[in-house]
Amino acid sequence: MQEKLNKTINDVNNTIIHSNEDAINFQKVYLSKKGILNDLFNEFKALPNSEKKEVGKLLNQLKVMALGKLKSLQKSENTKKEQSKIDLTMPAIYDQVGATHPLTKVQDQIISVFKKVGFGLSEGPEIEDDWHNFSALNMPKDHPARDMQDTFFIKIDPDVLLRTHTSSVQIRYMKENTPPIRIISPGRVYRKEDISSRAHCIFHQIEGLYIDKDVSFSDLKKMIAYFVESIFGKEVKTRFRPSFFPFTEPSAEVDIYWGLKTETDYRITKGTGWLEIMGCGMVDPNVLENANIDPTKFSGFAFGMGIERITMLLHQIDDLRLFFENDLRFLKQFQVN
Ligand code: PHE
Repeated sequence: MQEKLNKTINDVNNTIIHSNEDAINFQKVYLSKKGILNDLFNEFKALPNSEKKEVGKLLNQLKVMALGKLKSLQKSENTKKEQSKIDLTMPAIYDQVGATHPLTKVQDQIISVFKKVGFGLSEGPEIEDDWHNFSALNMPKDHPARDMQDTFFIKIDPDVLLRTHTSSVQIRYMKENTPPIRIISPGRVYRKEDISSRAHCIFHQIEGLYIDKDVSFSDLKKMIAYFVESIFGKEVKTRFRPSFFPFTEPSAEVDIYWGLKTETDYRITKGTGWLEIMGCGMVDPNVLENANIDPTKFSGFAFGMGIERITMLLHQIDDLRLFFENDLRFLKQFQVN
């Protein structure tokens, strides 16, 4: 019996089951009632007790092996079935790729224009104190110019507010650094304004500050001209308009010609065709003093521009609210494929 057993073990081991037919055959030859294994088990019963232990072990091994062979076929059949469920002709599902927000894009563009001429980056907090946002910028308490910028104050402490402009960063930077100074400061600002196609209670500015010896108004004009050309191209029409800011003297505003063809153009430009993009001027000596810079030695200019306005002009967007609504139909237009 030993010999027969060893031979069967060998045979089972060498059997390869590829198909269902093979499996049925295998089952019939080895595992059916009239199969070899049953024969062997019958023979086993008749063995003297002394041999049973060893032969029994081998016999069990053989059974496990034979059943294992059958199972392995079933497994591979199952995976084949799974695979056949996959439709290779189906179009692939692409990952959704996000896009940089148009405001961030334009902000980066502006930063790189100024980086080229030696400006560094400096940022300040959005929650500001009265001193940095107003007083140090020549707007003491009760100064009427404060009304120009309707402010969100923090109720529990009237000294704390949401900054109304990025000019507060000028003060912070000048206090910590000595001239020459060349920085731009991008960031979010807040004003208590009614929301419309032209205004929002949250918007973004980029502040510029240039302090050195003998800086003049013509340096400022040259810098602004360089900026406008780099962003809008040489053909764009611009104008400098005299203006007033408490922290610059003299002051000006820069307008860009948007056009007056459609009704929307009238609405957006209040019927003038021009859109203001920035305020600027020579830093007031008082402001330099407030930030511990000697105005008899140094002078400089500052400018502050609205990133929304510039983005509207660049991409012909006629409603500022679109920037804040996160409407994918709007944002997807700025996706780079
Ligand atoms: N801070 C001014 C504003 O928000 C803009 C400005 C900046 C004007 C710097 C002059 C100089 O309107």
